Amino acid sequence: MTHSTKNALSTSQREKRGVWSSKLGFILAASGSAIGLGNIVFFSSNAYQFGGGAFYLPYFIALFLLGIPVMILEFGLGAATGKAFPSALHRIAGKKGEFVGWWAQGSALFITMFYVAILGWALGMMIGTFGSLFEPGITAPFSPFSEPTTGPSAMVFFFNLITTAWPLLCVIIIWALNLIILSKGPKSIERAVRVFVPLMWLFMIGLIFRGLTFDGGVDGVLYLFTPNVEGVAEPQVWKGAFAQMFFSLSLGLGAMTTYASYLPKDTDQVNNALLVSFLNCGFEYVAGIAIFALLFVFALNPAGSTLTLSFFAIPQGIAAFPWGVRFFGFLFFFLLVVAGLTSSISLIESTVSSLIDKLNIARSRALTYVAIPGIIGSLCFALPQIIDPDLAGNGTLGLTLLDVMDHWAFGYSLLTAGFFTCILVGWVLGAKTLRLTINAHSKLTLRPWFDVLIKYIVPAVLGSVLVWSLYDELTSGTMYGSDIELQGFGWIPYSIPAIWLISTLSVAFFLTRKETHQIKLKRTADLYLMDPE
Ligand code: ALA
Repeated sequence: MTHSTKNALSTSQREKRGVWSSKLGFILAASGSAIGLGNIVFFSSNAYQFGGGAFYLPYFIALFLLGIPVMILEFGLGAATGKAFPSALHRIAGKKGEFVGWWAQGSALFITMFYVAILGWALGMMIGTFGSLFEPGITAPFSPFSEPTTGPSAMVFFFNLITTAWPLLCVIIIWALNLIILSKGPKSIERAVRVFVPLMWLFMIGLIFRGLTFDGGVDGVLYLFTPNVEGVAEPQVWKGAFAQMFFSLSLGLGAMTTYASYLPKDTDQVNNALLVSFLNCGFEYVAGIAIFALLFVFALNPAGSTLTLSFFAIPQGIAAFPWGVRFFGFLFFFLLVVAGLTSSISLIESTVSSLIDKLNIARSRALTYVAIPGIIGSLCFALPQIIDPDLAGNGTLGLTLLDVMDHWAFGYSLLTAGFFTCILVGWVLGAKTLRLTINAHSKLTLRPWFDVLIKYIVPAVLGSVLVWSLYDELTSGTMYGSDIELQGFGWIPYSIPAIWLISTLSVAFFLTRKETHQIKLKRTADLYLMDPE
């Protein structure tokens, strides 16, 4: 086959898979993927937990050291190969690459399951703003909340909500919305993000104005931005900042590679990566400003789990507004749902697209393959059964499962996937090959420092954080969550990491071994695939 025939074939194959109609569509979709619960819920609670200003320096360093280089890599990989994560990695590194891709994709599906469950609760809280969320006299079936509250209490409302079957229905609604948005691939995704992403910015800016116009709002902002040198010496702060950066930019999940695979090969990936990273981090700081302003104005203490801040502290602050309580409450939860949806679609799409590439099946079939385990998993994370009546931990079965899964799948999988991707690109394909491919279409040329980052620095940083963290975990003497009395469910802290690891590794093994037409494609050491046209 001649070079030009191959290129023509490659273009029509790309069109068959789906393409973005414009660069704007891609930027909206990719920034919509990046901006999500991570920016609103997790960033602020991490920043608060690690002392505001102490978090911001490591986070800033993480953006330049890890975030932007890995984003360029993931975009470059997707655009150059025109494939989703496992097939893209197969092309550059053969079966071992594909195995890493499927493992990352499997973990991404677990993360999607609990991400959608959290969105289900956000939807439940949003509906609650019309009901009793901001009213006094509520109780929850846990011993600390048996007496009716004297004023509004978002915490009691939340714990009552999660012991009912409503979140199960909300989870199904969120999955249905995801499936509708994904029904036509990039075409339908683009339609949704054109509305949702601008709306998200508008709502967040509205909340900032409200927060900052209260007396004392600015103090919260100062807390967020005042550097704290003491805190920076804590290794935990760095691990928190790195994991948060990966999650926030949707890296290590296959999502960015998949979205970039719907772009033409000759797109400027350095420009795209810078734009998406800055939009994401800009939104994060904007959200941080709004949230910290509210925390300080209403002297709220969001200590506790990551969900505490968004589900208890912020609505509690809103309940104390002099006017517009229901309106701002609704706005806040609507914002969470919309921001979360534009991210969850990218997580689901990356698995769907991976299956289409590998098995050559119709989109509807791939959606079904992902939706069945996905919906069952999300429903498990929303199970209302009370297993910890004194609320020493998370209270319900669903929330306990979610907390333990989040600790393992979120805490380890993204950084592990990032580590192996850099090793594969850096050492098997050669970072230089990817760099030159990206440079062929980029105004801002990547210099050899990119190779050094991908080959040595990023893997060294990620590897050390992972090893140190796992060592810390395994030598602490207790498994995460096992110190809580879970009535009849003491197995959860032990079996959840086992289920996650065994199932993702076996699915990765099975799919990698499966011979399909995909496998016959040459690895991308065959330079035609990486060769800029
Ligand atoms: N990047 C997405 C978020 O921050 C997954 O929520």
